[in-house]
Amino acid sequence: MTILFELQDVEKSYAVGLGPRKGLFGGRAPRRLKALDGVRLSIAQGDSIAIVGESGSGKSTLVRLMLGLEPPSDGRLRYQRTELASLDKPGRQRFAKEVAFIYQDARGSMNPRMRVRDILIEPMRLYGLCAPAEEAERVARLLERVGLSAAMADRFPAELSGGQVRRVAVARALAAEPTTIVADESVAGLDVSVQAQLLNLLRDLCEDMGLTLIFITHDLGVASYLCERVAVMYLGRIVEEGPTGEVMRAPLHPYTSALMRAFPSFDRPLKASLSGEVPSPIDLPRGCRFASRCPDVRPGCRLEDPVLTRRGEGEERTVACLFPIGVTAVQGVALSAQMPTMEAHC
Ligand SMILES: Nc1ncnc2c1ncn2[C@@H]1O[C@H](COP(=O)(O)OP(=O)(O)OP(=O)(O)O)[C@@H](O)[C@H]1O
Ligand SMILES: [Mg+2]
Repeated sequence: MTILFELQDVEKSYAVGLGPRKGLFGGRAPRRLKALDGVRLSIAQGDSIAIVGESGSGKSTLVRLMLGLEPPSDGRLRYQRTELASLDKPGRQRFAKEVAFIYQDARGSMNPRMRVRDILIEPMRLYGLCAPAEEAERVARLLERVGLSAAMADRFPAELSGGQVRRVAVARALAAEPTTIVADESVAGLDVSVQAQLLNLLRDLCEDMGLTLIFITHDLGVASYLCERVAVMYLGRIVEEGPTGEVMRAPLHPYTSALMRAFPSFDRPLKASLSGEVPSPIDLPRGCRFASRCPDVRPGCRLEDPVLTRRGEGEERTVACLFPIGVTAVQGVALSAQMPTMEAHC
């Protein structure tokens, strides 16, 4: 098993204004917001992993760091055993070719003045993947691969539907012949049938081409349909990770359990299933960051900050909770009734 990404206690904090004045004439220290705090994750070649969590939990920040767009403030972030931040120029170029990103705003990520053909040719030329005479043939093959007709090559992004423009975004990602695809909310906002078609496409591509997939989503249904593993984020930390089916059948972290209860609409605040306030990422509490909302909080939870830990030797599942819930303890959740119905749409 080749490990592609390895994150050890990765932190990312941002300066967000000044704190209160210390004394009458004292200075004001800058306040820092912890977007990521102690993230542990390893992704092997060929994995498909969904990163899920509420808005503001740090998913996009994590992706920006994994794409090398921003450096971590602390911790280690390695790609193929090399610290991402210390890759030299050829290493960076190889990384950019191997790891393709599909933006959430597919249309906005394309130059509106370029035709689809030129959008697809750009990465081929950048990485010297084929001779000019082969470009047209490659464009046609890519469009076919994502279920679009060759005639689409002449269109501008504004002349494409929402589903078509996302397919072009997938084709552009594939044009660089990557080994890994990272996608941030790539099917959000589409109607269910178009979403299902795109998910099918991504799943087939990953299977056929042996691609590694890192998929950010709000939607547990999408996560379970597309990805073999799931990582659940809460306030800048992965709090549970493991095979998607197992995690969804029997969550170990009370937060995952709450997400399951809120499914399929946990992009709205989890008021219905969780009381208590979400702590501010500028002022994280001592102890477990989920304690203020946890239905099973115990005194020790406010003292010790649980890190993501493997449950036992040879176990595939990890959880950041001092008192993980038992396998049968997902109270009141009729999982069979709540499991995603994507198959029905495909
Ligand atoms: N450049 C920045 N400066 C200051 N704070 C930031 C910055 N980028 C992100 N944050 C903060 O970091 C936290 C995590 O943000 P992030 O965008 O990663 O969340 P997310 O899980 O992707 O949310 P969403 O589901 O809404 O896209 C938020 O509190 C956000 O306000
Ligand atoms: Mg985001």
